[in-house]
Order: sequence, then C-alpha cells, then structure tokens
Amino acid sequence: MARSILLRRANAIFHHDAAPKQPLRREALGRLPALSAGYLLIEDGRIAAYGPDAEAPERADLIIDAQDRLVLPCWCDSHTHIVYAASREGEFIDRLHGLTYEEIAERGGGILNSARKLQEASEDALYEQAFHRLYEVIRFGTGAIEIKSGYGLTVESELKMLRVIRRLRETAPIPVRATFLGAHAIPKAYKSDRQGYLNLIKQEMLPRIHDQGLADYIDVFCDQGFFTPEETADLLEAGDRYGLKAKIHVNELANSGGVQVGVTHNALSVDHLERIGEDEIGLLSTSKTIGTLLPSCAFFLNIPYAPGRALIDTGAAVALATDYNPGSTPSGKMSLVLSLACIKMRLTPEEAVNAATLNGAFAMELDEDYGSITVGKRAHLIVTRPVPSLAFLPYAFGSDHIAKVVLGNEVIDVTG
Ligand code: NIG
Ligand code: FE
Repeated sequence: MARSILLRRANAIFHHDAAPKQPLRREALGRLPALSAGYLLIEDGRIAAYGPDAEAPERADLIIDAQDRLVLPCWCDSHTHIVYAASREGEFIDRLHGLTYEEIAERGGGILNSARKLQEASEDALYEQAFHRLYEVIRFGTGAIEIKSGYGLTVESELKMLRVIRRLRETAPIPVRATFLGAHAIPKAYKSDRQGYLNLIKQEMLPRIHDQGLADYIDVFCDQGFFTPEETADLLEAGDRYGLKAKIHVNELANSGGVQVGVTHNALSVDHLERIGEDEIGLLSTSKTIGTLLPSCAFFLNIPYAPGRALIDTGAAVALATDYNPGSTPSGKMSLVLSLACIKMRLTPEEAVNAATLNGAFAMELDEDYGSITVGKRAHLIVTRPVPSLAFLPYAFGSDHIAKVVLGNEVIDVTG
C-alpha cells in the first residue's frame, strides 16, 4: 500500500475545482472540465493536487503512467439490491415466453421467490455471495454503493439482510449505505392482512433496526400491485420518527402517485420513474428530491425508459444507478448504464458521468468525500485503458474501458 501515488501524463483528468454543494442541474450537469496532459497526486488516500504534468512533483511512493488514458471519479451506485440468495433466470425465460413482471409476481414469483430463498440461506452464505458481487462491481469502477434489504420480509430475515450489509460495510474498501426495504412486497402470510404487515414493519422491524443502527434510509416499493401512496406515506412517516430519510421505488410499473408522496415527504431520491408525466416532471424540477434513473432495468424488463432528457431540461436533479438485483436488473455494470443513458435517454456523456458520480454521491449523502475529482476528497478513481475521448466510453458500449481502479492508497489492476 503506497502512502503517496502520482498519476502522470493523463490524457484528461475530469475534475470539479470546487466541490458542488448541491446536486448538479440543467447546464451545470453538462459541465465536466477536462485537464489535459495532467498529473494527479494522492496522499494518504485523498486527492492532494492536480495540474499540468510539467508541474508534477518529482517523487511519490508509486508512480503510474496514465499517458493516453482518462482519469475519472469512480461511479457512485446509489441503488442496488446485491444481497440475495439465488438468481432468477427461470423468470427471465418466462418473460421471453410472454409473461410480464407483474404476472410473474402475482403467481408468487418475483420478490416473493427471492424472499423464500433468502429466508433459507445462512447469514454467512449471503455474505459470501454479496461480497463476491461487491468486488465484481468494484472492478467495474464502482467506488461507493447503496444496498437495500427487502428480500427478507420477516422480522428475522430483514434483520439478517441488514446485518449482512453491515458486515459488507465493515469489510469493503468502499463506503456502503444501507437502506431498509421491508415494504418491498406483501409476504404470502399477510396476503389477506396488509395492515398486519404494515404494523409488523412499524412496530417490530423499525424499532429493532433503529436500536441496532442497521439502516441509513427507508425505502418502499410504491407501485401498482405493491404499496399504495397512502401506505407509503404512513411508512415514510414511521421511518422519519426513527431518523430514516426516504429513498423510494416509484413509477416503475404505473403512474400511481409515488413521485408526489416522495416529494411531499422530502425523499432524498425517488427511483425508477419509467412511467411519469408532465406533472411529475414539473414537481421534481422544483423539488430537492433527486430523480434516480435506472436504465439497465428498463432495458432488461423491456419497458419504457424514464424521460431523462426532459427531466434535466426542466431542471430536475437526476442521478444514474444500476438497480443490480436478481429480478429486474441482473447487472451491476455502471458503464452499461452510461451507454443506455446516452443512447436511450439522450444524455450527453458529460451529463451521464456527472449523474453517475457526483449526483449519485448526493443521492447517498456521500458528496463531501466522494463523487468528484476535487482536492481533499477521497481518491476513488478510474484510470481507463488508452481511449480517444470521454464520448468513446458510452459509444463503444460493448468494450471494457477500465484499466485500474484506485481506492485511496490501493490500486486494483483490472485489465493491466
Ligand atoms: O428495483 N421494483 C422493485 N424492486 C426491484 C426488483 C426486485 C425484484 O424483482 O427482485 C427493482 O426493480
Ligand atoms: Fe430497485
């Protein structure tokens, strides 16, 4: 482990000289200054300086030649479900034969399928699998992550999931934020007693999660066939009493009022937004709530993409994330998210990078230390292979572009 690391002769270093204090919106989202032929110095895991290569310091414990390469902040993936017990490619085949995500869920598949498997899995086995996924995405360039519970759906299993997330947080080389998603689906045992399950969340789960300090945020799957806006409001108010801010799933399956309930309850983010109209776009543009877009979910489920271009042009703060989970997005690859954001949502490469880094960091309240190349922030950086430009990254959507991932004092060689 080197105490000082010097990157030399980088083709471009994408930086923000002053750390933005709010998520980037409108034109600011498209501004990502590039320093060409630059050096960047890391000391004790933080960005100590950058500038023209001619002014680079002479010595460092480790010197990396970044000629022809780009240097970017690591991705900040603010929406994932990487703790799960089994993949669900059987349902993928069912969808190829014509069933919809909702029809599979109604038959007891989907989230309930994952819950059955997770309830049977040991805590150690869940940790091993999730640890493997975490290192997979770190090698894809992710340098900060949020992970949700929501496949437990019983008091014991939700706590088990959150303990796995805590263990990941304690062992991972990147920051991990934990979100409690007990309201992911109504479990089978409560099918005819919805209120009973809501009470279980409020009276049994939340107090214990709070006592054990297991979550940073509360989430609800506020959508058709899952939880209503009224139920969501009730749960967010309960979460608020335990100091948990909201980051909620809305408008993936239908335009059913999720954006409104999120904004009213000062949600940090409302995520998905595949089914929204002018009213929801207008509401987000005047609110502090971040709209988190998950284009690899829309791709995999073959549903409409969220209107990313309209959201940005109207003034909403948008972030990009993967939604890595076994049902709707079995992929944690942020580079694919970037390509889809450009190709399907018409973001520029600069907008997509800022939405996937800085605005993602804001959507996890990690912006003080992560999300941009700014002096003083933690040096979580991507060094690309030799590539001609920033636009080449989303453009060449099938290639692997990352050579190294720098996490403070540690350098992971991804492709050499
Ligand atoms: O974000 N929409 C709700 N939750 C996940 C999918 C969960 C699952 O299918 O297992 C999502 O798409
Ligand atoms: Fe999700």
